[in-house]
Amino acid sequence: MLVLLLAACGTGAATNTAAPVNTALPSAPTSAASATPAASSAAPTTVVPGTTVVPGVVATRPTGSPTRAATAGVSTPVAASRPQLPVTVKDKDGRAATITDIGRIIVITGDVAEVVWALGLGGNVIATDTSVTYPPEAQRAPKIGYMRTLAAEGLIAARPSVIIGGESAGPPETLEQLRGAGIPVVIVATPSTLAAPAQKIREIGAALGVPGPAETLATQTQSDIDAARALAARATSKPRVMFLNVRGNQVQQISGSGAPAQAIIEAADGIGGGAAAGISGYKSITPEALVAGQPDYYLVFQLGFSSVGGADGLLAIPGVSQTPAGQNRRILAYEDQLLLGLGPRTGAVLRELTLALHPELR
Ligand code: HEM
Repeated sequence: MLVLLLAACGTGAATNTAAPVNTALPSAPTSAASATPAASSAAPTTVVPGTTVVPGVVATRPTGSPTRAATAGVSTPVAASRPQLPVTVKDKDGRAATITDIGRIIVITGDVAEVVWALGLGGNVIATDTSVTYPPEAQRAPKIGYMRTLAAEGLIAARPSVIIGGESAGPPETLEQLRGAGIPVVIVATPSTLAAPAQKIREIGAALGVPGPAETLATQTQSDIDAARALAARATSKPRVMFLNVRGNQVQQISGSGAPAQAIIEAADGIGGGAAAGISGYKSITPEALVAGQPDYYLVFQLGFSSVGGADGLLAIPGVSQTPAGQNRRILAYEDQLLLGLGPRTGAVLRELTLALHPELR
C-alpha cells in the first residue's frame, strides 16, 4: 500500500487529477420526481487509498493486512434507503433550507462529497467542486470551480435540486445568490475536531433524508476513530509534526492551532509544529516560523506535494530544509481528503499516521 502512489508523488510535475472545470453537466430531468437515490456506482477495492510515505525518508510501517479499524468506513458504501423527504434543516448559521428532491445534488467540499458517496448517493450528484478527490467516481464528476471561489452563474445553470457543502464553500455572496435563485443550500458545520466526522455524517444524512444509513455510517466512523486513538495512546515517543499547505507558488502556508491538521497531529500523539511556533490557523511559510517550530516531520497533502515538485521542490522553499524534518527529509504525504477531510476515513488515516510517527508501535 505504501508504494501505491509513489510514482504520482515522486514526479516533478504538478498532478491535477480532477476533471476539467466546466465539463458539460448532465441535463436536468424533465420532472422533479427523481427523489430516489440511485445506487452508488462506487465499488472501492483499495484500503486506505492515497497513503504515501516518501521513500527513504521514514521507516515503513508494518506490512500485512490492515486491521478492520483501517478499512472500515472506507470501502463499503452504506445503501441509502428511500429518502425521507421533504425535510427542513437549519445549517450552521441557523439558515433554514427545505429539501424536497435529492435527484440533482451539487456537492461542495471534499469531505461532504465523501459522505454523500459513502451514503450511496453518488449517482445523484450532478457536479462537485475541484476539492472533491475521493472516491474516484466523485473525482470524475463534472467540476464547477474551487470550493472557496465559486461563481453562482454556472451553479444555477446546472439546475440542482439541492446544494450541500461544508464551511469552506463560498464566498458568502455566491451562497446568497444561490439561495436567492430558490435553490436549497445546506452548509454543514465543519469544526476541526475529531468529533466532526460523525457529526457531519449525521447532519448530511438528515439534510438528504437518509438519517438511518447516516447513523450507521457515523457509528462505524466513530468506532474507527476511537480504535486509532487507543493505539496512539500507547505511543511513548512525541515527535513534532508540521503541516505545510502548499499548492505550487499560489499557496505556501504553515498550519497551526485551530486548523484540522492540529487535531489530526495531536490525536496521533504528536506535537503540532505550527502551534509550537505560535501560529494559529494558516500563516505564510517563513524560515523563522519553520525554525521556531523545529518539526521532526513535515506532513503534506499529496496533490499539494506534487504541485511543488515533490521532496526536492518542498525542500527548496526557503527555510524548509533548515529543520530536523528537512535535514532528514522526513516528509509524510497523504491523499488530501484522506488526511484533513475529517470524513469517514479519519480513523484510517489516524492509524496510518500514528504508525508512521511512532516506530515503537509497529
Ligand atoms: C486556508 C486553507 C486553504 C487555502 C488557502 C487553499 C487554497 C487552495 C487553492 C488556491 C487551490 C487551487 C485552486 C484551483 O486551482 O482552482 C486549492 C486546491 C485544492 N485544495 Fe485547498 N486550500 C486550503 C485548504 C484546503 C484543505 C483543508 C483541503 C482539504 C481538506 C484542501 C483541498 C484542496 C484540494 C483537493 C485542491 C485541488 C487540488 C488539485 O486538483 O490539484 N484545501 N486550495
